[in-house]
Amino acid sequence: MLDLFAEETPWSEPLAPGAMIVRRLAREHSTVLLAAIEQVAAVSPFRHMVTPGGYTMSVAMTNCGPLGWSTDRHGYCYASVDPLSGRSWPAMPACFRQLAQAAAERAGYRGFDPDACLINRYQPGAKLSLHQDKDEARLDAPIVSVSLGLPAVFQFGGLRRSDPLRRVLLEHGDVVVWGGESRLFYHAILPLKEGCHPQVGPWRYNLTFRRAA
Ligand code: SIN
Ligand code: FE2
Repeated sequence: MLDLFAEETPWSEPLAPGAMIVRRLAREHSTVLLAAIEQVAAVSPFRHMVTPGGYTMSVAMTNCGPLGWSTDRHGYCYASVDPLSGRSWPAMPACFRQLAQAAAERAGYRGFDPDACLINRYQPGAKLSLHQDKDEARLDAPIVSVSLGLPAVFQFGGLRRSDPLRRVLLEHGDVVVWGGESRLFYHAILPLKEGCHPQVGPWRYNLTFRRAA
C-alpha cells in the first residue's frame, strides 16, 4: 500500500532522564516488520497469558529470540522454550535486531544486544496495567519498544508506583527507548481505542526488546 508518510524523517523527543521517543523510526520498515511478526506467530502463536494472581491478560503475547517472557500461575520468567509449542522460541528476525540496535544507539545506548523480544498484540479495549520491567538479569541494558498499528496512550512514571505519570500518544512506527536512570520506571498502556489502521487493521503491535540474561 502507498504510504504518503513513509518518507517522513524520524525525530527524537526526550521523555525522562535516560528515556527518549524516536518518532516514526520504524515506519519505513513496517511492511517487513509485520511480515516477520506473522512468521513468528505461525510458530509460536499469540496467546493470552495468566498472571500469578489468576488474571487473564487482555494483551495477547508471543516472543522471539533466545529467551521469551512468560507468566503463569506460578510466576514470571524468561525461558528458551515456548511453554505452548514445547519448542524454542523462533529466532529473532534480523530486521528486528537491526531496528532495536539503531534505536538504542540514537538514544545513546551503544552496543545494545537484545536476547529477548516480547511481542504484544492489543485489540480495542486491551490494556497493560502499571508495571516495571524488572525480570531481566541485565538492568544496564535499555528497553527498546516499537509501536505498530493503532495508536495507544503510553503512561510513563517514575521509580515509585505513586509517581506522577506522563501521557504520550504512541503512533505507528514510534520507538521508545528507556534505560539508565529510567530503566525501572513504571509504565502502562491505557485501553486501546476502537479503530482500524490502514496497514495493520484493528490491532496495535508492540515489540519490546530486552537483554534478559
Ligand atoms: C510493555 O510495557 O512491555 C509494552 C508497552 C507497550 O505496549 O507499548
Ligand atoms: Fe513493560
